[in-house]
Amino acid sequence: MNRILVTGGVGYIGSHTVVELMEQGYEVVIVDNLSNSNISVLDGIEAIVSRRPDFVNADCCDYVAMDNVFRSFPDICGVIHFAASKAVGESVEQPLRYYRNNTLSLITLLQLMQEHDVRHLVFSSSCTVYGQPDAEHLPVDESAPRKKALSPYGNTKQINEDIIMDQAHACASLQATILRYFNPIGAHPSALIGELPNGVPNNLLPFVTQTAAGLRKELRVFGDDYNTPDGSCIRDYIYVVDLAKAHVKAIERMLSGKAEEQVEIFNLGTGRGLSVLEIVRTFEEVTGQSLPYTIVGRREGDIEQVWADPHKANTVLEWRADTPIRDVLLSAWRWEKHLRNIKE
Ligand code: NAD
Ligand code: WQD
Repeated sequence: MNRILVTGGVGYIGSHTVVELMEQGYEVVIVDNLSNSNISVLDGIEAIVSRRPDFVNADCCDYVAMDNVFRSFPDICGVIHFAASKAVGESVEQPLRYYRNNTLSLITLLQLMQEHDVRHLVFSSSCTVYGQPDAEHLPVDESAPRKKALSPYGNTKQINEDIIMDQAHACASLQATILRYFNPIGAHPSALIGELPNGVPNNLLPFVTQTAAGLRKELRVFGDDYNTPDGSCIRDYIYVVDLAKAHVKAIERMLSGKAEEQVEIFNLGTGRGLSVLEIVRTFEEVTGQSLPYTIVGRREGDIEQVWADPHKANTVLEWRADTPIRDVLLSAWRWEKHLRNIKE
């Protein structure tokens, strides 16, 4: 019994986690409806680990389809739930789609886990639940208060955390780990998998690499009048491979019976805040690519600065996000060049 069900496993963070799980000897079955990813990612995973994960093209909100997954793979011993819609701006325009997809998929999963006696869940949450932490809560640790969500997307993360807490209270056999990610960036060192944003990227890094590759005319820096050293916003940019490894640590902690609480929460960040302009400057230094950018007005909904205190994850999970930002930015650039067939 060492099969992990990975929902959303064809997506950005999920695919990197599938690689790490398989390299640690786990069997994996991915459920993904390919609503925000491409089936070719399975080829990349196979090229890296030399075997193809089991894959079911299904919607996690579809109770019958998901019940069939649990029946078809009776050796599932844990679940990592990545599947969700995640575009903040889109969630403001289409709240019902986000509430349906992100909460109904979790509810369906929890119901079936109880029915099939699968007891261990890792859930993808986000530092967005903290909003803009007060100064005394920076760097932000797990004791920091959650703040009113600034988007339906962020609210679905808070609601889902509460659903997990309530289900754990009602179902003693459920063991859950909530992982609050900061800003995942970069790509696998093989450059065979990475972030595949649909259309114009909302996130900073894919926009940076597409600008460097000549797909975008210039990067717009959303504001340099914040109360930060260089005026641009600060975030905790965490290497996606380091993040993926944390999921293996989390599932192993639960499977080995070491979890001390029924629901454990961890902030997954580097503990280092970097500004937008620092990212731009470092990217230019490490890649030798010039990055045309223009400072424009602030983006609605942006918070000024947030970075993690990862002490709990460092000590309890015995995990650390320690890949140097220079290597992380290089991995993103290598992936972009692979995507665009740009020669080294
Ligand atoms: P992604 O969009 O690349 O991956 C999500 C995957 O889930 C996609 O492959 C999509 O096709 C699939 N999916 C969505 N709804 C589904 C459904 N109902 N049934 C089956 N498959 C479904 O996103 P990601 O960046 O890999 O994020 C993964 C998780 O991490 C999400 O829950 C997201 O909210 C969370 N998260 C992401 C970030 C980030 O910056 N990327 C930060 C914090 C938290
Ligand atoms: C980072 C910084 C922008 C693009 C979002 C979601 C969060 C999580 C991670 C899902 C900000 C600036 C960006 C650009 C820019 N996703 N920026 N020009 O906003 O911290 O978090 O993604 O869980 O929930 O909110 O990440 O990469 O969009 O922006 O100046 O073209 O880069 O203003 O300061 P963000 P981001």
